[in-house]
Amino acid sequence: MFEPVSVSLGLIVFFRLVSGDSIISPPSCDGFYGCISSIRQSDCTNGEILISGGSLNGCCPGCRGGQRHNKVCNVNVASRRCAPGLKCDKKCLYDRTTCLHTIHMQLEEELAGWYPRCNTDGTYASKQCRGDRLSGRCFCYSEDGRRLFGWDWYKYAAKMTCACSRRRAKLESEGRTGVTLHCTQNGNYEELQCDSGVCWCADQHSGDPLVGTTVVHASLWQLLPCYNSTLHGDSYLRQCESAAFAQQTIQKKFALRGTIGVTFNAVQCDYDGSFGRFKIENGIVYCTWRDGKKIGSFQVRSSLLSSVNCNCARDSLIYQEAGIPFTLSCGGNGNYEYSQDQNGELFCVDDDGFVVSTDVQPGESCDHYIYKYVED
Ligand SMILES: *[C@@H]1O[C@H](CO)[C@@H](O)[C@H](O)[C@H]1NC(C)=O
Repeated sequence: MFEPVSVSLGLIVFFRLVSGDSIISPPSCDGFYGCISSIRQSDCTNGEILISGGSLNGCCPGCRGGQRHNKVCNVNVASRRCAPGLKCDKKCLYDRTTCLHTIHMQLEEELAGWYPRCNTDGTYASKQCRGDRLSGRCFCYSEDGRRLFGWDWYKYAAKMTCACSRRRAKLESEGRTGVTLHCTQNGNYEELQCDSGVCWCADQHSGDPLVGTTVVHASLWQLLPCYNSTLHGDSYLRQCESAAFAQQTIQKKFALRGTIGVTFNAVQCDYDGSFGRFKIENGIVYCTWRDGKKIGSFQVRSSLLSSVNCNCARDSLIYQEAGIPFTLSCGGNGNYEYSQDQNGELFCVDDDGFVVSTDVQPGESCDHYIYKYVED
């Protein structure tokens, strides 16, 4: 019954003792109380990977081994299979569809810099923190490793879940347009939510209606106990959302009349209802602040849109607001320049503006220090 896998750590099993019977209940996940929740990747040894269902017949997280990166493999021979996070193509290669491959990159010291945090099911952790607790920051990430709306200073991020950001990203990836859930700056749910014609007072972590409150028709939103006239005013939709909504309505009218060739530059809003990080005008992408105004003169041709994140442009203002000097250089497109030079001191930063190497030679590329999300 037992596979020849190494299970380094298991769980505290409280076997049910059937009265008058010393026989232990069969291996079903209902039979015991819980797994060791404190088990970490760092508890695994010899290149093993912590995965959910890795121990006790798939009931608990555990460390699983297998062939390491670049080793010869054979999917039909148990002892020759690749470790979790790798896929077998004659040799064990990084399986970029799972976050777990990054643990192997780390074991192989592929990059000198930072690696994302993984959940044991192979998804990326929703909150990825950078830097130290004093001055660092945390960002929301999708299950598949893309940065999403939502951030906070590390020191304030204890209750940051990114649940709202993840929910919105998921709805949009499923093709839903006009989602009006409002996330707070840190990716949690705002207290008052309206979507699909109804409104409710939401739990900030789950987004579900608070216990003892009701869901009302959107026209009655100002009667909700969480409604605050100072905060929410007369309209649930924020300035950017109203603009986007108006634009969508016009577009629909044109589409109905069969007018083609009319192109709009879609208004992009963030998950908190503010203006998105860039706008497109006449074939040019400009980095924008929350109020929709352009930041500096950052711009790039719209054909290069997919490479634009405006993280540096936005951070320059975020640090300014926080009263922290901002000393990094941005590229012309508003992204961070990977190669930084401060008074002759060379170092590399990544897309989030965090230093990944201080040991850089003149002319050396930063690419091999930077973990990049790769679409497979
Ligand atoms: C309403 O919002 C304002 C602005 O955030 C705040 O100062 C005030 O305390 C809130 N009022 C209530 C009753 O929560």
